[in-house]
Amino acid sequence: MGGESVVLAAAGVGYDVAGRTLLDGLDLTVRQGESVAVSGPSGSGKSTLLTCLLGLIKPQRGSIQVAGVELTELRERALARHRRTHLGVVFQFGELLPELTPLENTAIAALLGGVRQRDAYAQAEELLTELKVPFGKTPTAQLSGGERQRTAVARALINKPALVLADEPTGALDETTRDEVAALLFSVPQRWKCGLVVVTHDATVAARADRHLALAGGELIEARGAGVRS
Ligand SMILES: Nc1ncnc2c1ncn2[C@@H]1O[C@H](COP(=O)(O)OP(=O)(O)OP(=O)(O)O)[C@@H](O)[C@H]1O
Ligand SMILES: [Mg+2]
Repeated sequence: MGGESVVLAAAGVGYDVAGRTLLDGLDLTVRQGESVAVSGPSGSGKSTLLTCLLGLIKPQRGSIQVAGVELTELRERALARHRRTHLGVVFQFGELLPELTPLENTAIAALLGGVRQRDAYAQAEELLTELKVPFGKTPTAQLSGGERQRTAVARALINKPALVLADEPTGALDETTRDEVAALLFSVPQRWKCGLVVVTHDATVAARADRHLALAGGELIEARGAGVRS
């Protein structure tokens, strides 16, 4: 097992909605330092899977452990706390507050986690510097797509999560920016000692992951052409 700690252990996850079985006995294990790409047709349940891993919806069957804690057994407040402390998320459009600066957008995640204001801003500044995001007085709305996604990565990382989840993080970017954001994202597990699960339609993005899986018939299977890693 290499001694690397397991940050995500999902086993036998089953989720039905609107008379359909979207997830059907799904298993997924992710270790610290490891990245996994998940692809699959539109509507196959990829975003639903991430939502389950975040604990925002509870699957009817199976077990989901994040940082050693069973999410399906946590009550709402404990679940929210666990999510804030151990999980980071990046979505397709960054989902940042447009009128705030990148610094404020990043610090806010730490402030919500109970970090003191001065420390939250210092940590945010450090991360944004490392991720090369300009953080003057410019509102986030005026940043480029790539800068916004790097801000979203900073916000996902500020609470030092065990697991980072990303849903189509490069879906709204042009090719050059996509490559730059993808390179940054896949450097995250090693640099910040966490696990990473990225949902993507983009084969060039998926090819950067340690493992490339496809969601099919409610289960994760080895994706074709995956496993090549330089
Ligand atoms: N609460 C719900 N009620 C009804 N249908 C739902 C609900 N949640 C998800 N679905 C349906 O489940 C299917 C899977 O949705 P999901 O968003 O997970 O797909 P996806 O794989 O992320 O697709 P895409 O690649 O287009 O983002 C869709 O057909 C969606 O309409
Ligand atoms: Mg989706």
